[in-house]
Amino acid sequence: MFAAWGASIAHAAGITADKYPGIGRAATPAEIRAWDIDVRPDFKGLPKGQGSVRQGEEIWEGKCASCHGSFGESSEIFTPIAGGTTTEDIKTGRVNNLLPGANQPQRTALMKMATLSTLWDYINRAMPWNAPKSLSADEVYAVTAYVLNLGSIVPAEFTLSDANIREVQERLPNRRGTTTAHAMWPGPEFGGSAKPDVQGSACMRDCRKEVIVKSFLPDYARNAHGQLAEQMRVVGGIRGADTSRPAAEIFMPNRALALATQAQVAPEKIAGAASPRNSAGAARAAVMPLLQKNACVGCHAMDSKLVGPAFKDVADKYKSRTDAVNYLAGKIKQGGQGIWGSTPMPPQSLSDAESTQLAQWLARDFSP
Ligand code: HEC
Ligand code: HEC
Repeated sequence: MFAAWGASIAHAAGITADKYPGIGRAATPAEIRAWDIDVRPDFKGLPKGQGSVRQGEEIWEGKCASCHGSFGESSEIFTPIAGGTTTEDIKTGRVNNLLPGANQPQRTALMKMATLSTLWDYINRAMPWNAPKSLSADEVYAVTAYVLNLGSIVPAEFTLSDANIREVQERLPNRRGTTTAHAMWPGPEFGGSAKPDVQGSACMRDCRKEVIVKSFLPDYARNAHGQLAEQMRVVGGIRGADTSRPAAEIFMPNRALALATQAQVAPEKIAGAASPRNSAGAARAAVMPLLQKNACVGCHAMDSKLVGPAFKDVADKYKSRTDAVNYLAGKIKQGGQGIWGSTPMPPQSLSDAESTQLAQWLARDFSP
């Protein structure tokens, strides 16, 4: 089977080579195997293997619970995995809590999923978040079985395998919950003419090298749904932003500097920026685009703990260390675990210059 698939790819690559002589080479079978990991809804592509709920529980506690909670309820800001499904849903194949009028504030993975292959494939390719593709096939079976057990879809003594996964698919709570009756279906590849509602074209020349945020939700609209920070969800307390104040005030106390950053203008050119906080504020304004571009602010706030420690606490901890800049620049790139708690910080892909700039800000210029 694989030989035939490999041969047809090699053949396709041969055509490409003829069409564009001197460009590229045929992919090797090993290269194709490394990419070809998808598992389809009909379980094509699923490797052989097996794993029990009990084995899965151990993997879950060791490698997943720090972010998703012991019962898949999810800690801090991660989306919940289990919850919201019933034995009735397992019978009908339609999750009642997804229907209009249901009293379910947040949708869990087990509520939404219509195909079990999606769960297996997603864990196999993307989880744990800080070490994707580090699980063996048997470990993926085991932890998938554990997740299914959290939703009472399989019993505690169950062993999931390539031989019985189709039977389990027939118990998935939302297996009848998807529809193809929407605007994009059927597309040209299925003989239809429906088009996606968004059209894109790739930029090939003079393209921007960096993303610049040009518009923000206007301050008057921030609180349109009430104070989000006070609206704790029932499943997995997901933190909402403090919408009672303008966004810029929260990240940058000096509004003029905030506007300067938004407008990508040097802060000293904005009238009113000359306040006592000026130099600390300016230092913060200078690093803010970097913090946003690298999504640091998704996990760190200035003076409160989110997923990671408050930047203020980091600055306090290292301000008297002579090698603080070097140390922090290294940690920002490599990530780490265990200094502030058990949640790991994944490695960050930013340049040495960027991590040094951020480290200098934390070690020398920080002011809350
Ligand atoms: C360091 C934190 C972290 C760890 C550890 C982790 N995850 Fe995740 N997980 C996430 C994040 C963040 C997402 C959402 C990712 C996204 O939307 O791109 C996620 C998403 C998921 C989802 C999909 C949820 C949905 O509804 O879309 C599943 C299933 C999942 N993780 C399973 C696991 C399993 C199994 C493990 C352990 C082998 C694991 N995770 C370990 C952070 C983590
Ligand atoms: C996915 C969430 C996440 C992202 C994104 C993230 N961090 Fe972290 N960060 C953490 C966690 C969790 C810790 C605590 C790690 C520990 O306990 O050792 C941490 C720790 C740190 C520390 C302290 C390291 C130490 O040794 O004390 C610094 C500095 C830091 N992060 C800076 C950054 C910067 C700068 C960025 C953006 C380039 C960033 N982080 C992006 C989660 C994150």
